[in-house]
Amino acid sequence: HINAPYELVLFGGLGDLALRKLMPALYLLYRDGRLPSGRIFAATRQTLEREDFLGRIEKALKSHLPSEYLELATWEGFSQCLHCLTIDLNSAQGYLDLATTLGSDDPNRVYYLATGSDLYTPICQGLHDSGLIKSNSKIVLEKPIGHDYESASAINNIVSEYFDECQIYRIDHYLGKETVQNLMVLRFANSLFESQWNQHYIDHIQITISESIGVEKRAEFYEQVGAMRDMFQNHLLQLLCITAMEPPARLDPDSVRDEKVKVLRALKPIVGNHISDNVVRGQYDAGVAEGKPVPRYRDEPGVHPKSMTETFVAVKVEIDNWRWAGVPFYLRTGKRLAERACEIVVHFKEIPHSIFPLQHKSTMANKLVFRLQPDEGVRLMLCEKRVGPGMNVRPMNLSLNPANHKQTRVPEAYERLLFDVLSGNATLFLRDDELLEAWRWVDPILSYWEEIEQRPEPYTSGSWGPAAATLLLAKEGRLWDENS
Ligand code: BG6
Repeated sequence: HINAPYELVLFGGLGDLALRKLMPALYLLYRDGRLPSGRIFAATRQTLEREDFLGRIEKALKSHLPSEYLELATWEGFSQCLHCLTIDLNSAQGYLDLATTLGSDDPNRVYYLATGSDLYTPICQGLHDSGLIKSNSKIVLEKPIGHDYESASAINNIVSEYFDECQIYRIDHYLGKETVQNLMVLRFANSLFESQWNQHYIDHIQITISESIGVEKRAEFYEQVGAMRDMFQNHLLQLLCITAMEPPARLDPDSVRDEKVKVLRALKPIVGNHISDNVVRGQYDAGVAEGKPVPRYRDEPGVHPKSMTETFVAVKVEIDNWRWAGVPFYLRTGKRLAERACEIVVHFKEIPHSIFPLQHKSTMANKLVFRLQPDEGVRLMLCEKRVGPGMNVRPMNLSLNPANHKQTRVPEAYERLLFDVLSGNATLFLRDDELLEAWRWVDPILSYWEEIEQRPEPYTSGSWGPAAATLLLAKEGRLWDENS
């Protein structure tokens, strides 16, 4: 449970992430009676009257939450926890004023850095110099942390000068998604899967995070990062780790993180000429998405007309260890794709021989699908007999769907993770070495792209990405699951 009194200081308190995800998640926790009364400070450059500030938050809740969750009494209670705090993050005086506001006691206090990672150093220094880091303080760092190995390592060094590793929470909200937890439960609470979870029985694994939205109003940020740093280095690699890791001995933070870091260390490096064979980079062209005509990436407001930033990336990843030798993991993510979906699909090997005359064994391979969004659930694709005369075989799904438990609302990822930070559970957060291993693996690909200065391959908005991504699997006799 969350220790009260708590204080949450949200840097970037009126930014996109705070309004879209963090405030709605805090509201839902409060509504469910899981967030006791405490103080939530939205730290921002802007100076706002209390009424305007609350108006901004209320508007955000209305646009990002279903209306049935918005009750007047809940909002009134929640809004009493909210405070707006004007601060210039680059001025020492700002932190001294913050210290006066917060007072000198040492409650359960969390500093949440929902800003660009270039501000992490001045914020940590400011907090330290004004005596704001106490034994009970925690810090949350949003991704992407740095833009390569070196910058991430510099941030790690600075943050660890002021905070112990156990006070640092590096967040990746994909780890808070319900189905990711369920993947751990299915793998480690059933003996059925473990015996199959290796190169003897698995042909390959696909992990897709496809988005139908474009760059929206985040061009300034996105132009600097692209899909590799925004989604692949963190979300996709984390999903890969949870799928591929060895069973941890316990569910405590270090046991889980030890196993994840071993996967990252075992990733086969993709360097030199192997990059063009194993990595596809795309950028969206005009097309139709979500039923409307949409412009190409280069024509989006704030995007450079000759931008080289990728909005799509697909990679064939291999893991050099006993369990996974010879099993490719195909990972892809992109904006302006055909639909919003996130799936981990485990493709089992074909049966060695079919005794059913009309059925080719390739159409009978089993699949286990973990769907993270938009609807969450797990399904196992098996073959069964079609009812009636003859021996006709057809595929069928065994499904587990959390929405079937009607009385339980599926919590949002940030709800779970904010609860975990406030209650001091770091299991679903990244350790320093994990972050660095991920960058170490991604860096050569990023440097290669910088060197060749080639435009990413264009793809039509509303499609499933560039032709080269289809080819990446086709040349190995495979197809992407089209998530439909
Ligand atoms: C964020 C990325 O981390 O994840 C965004 O910065 C992306 O570009 C978002 O849109 C996707 O998150 P979700 O939970 O909506 O799939």
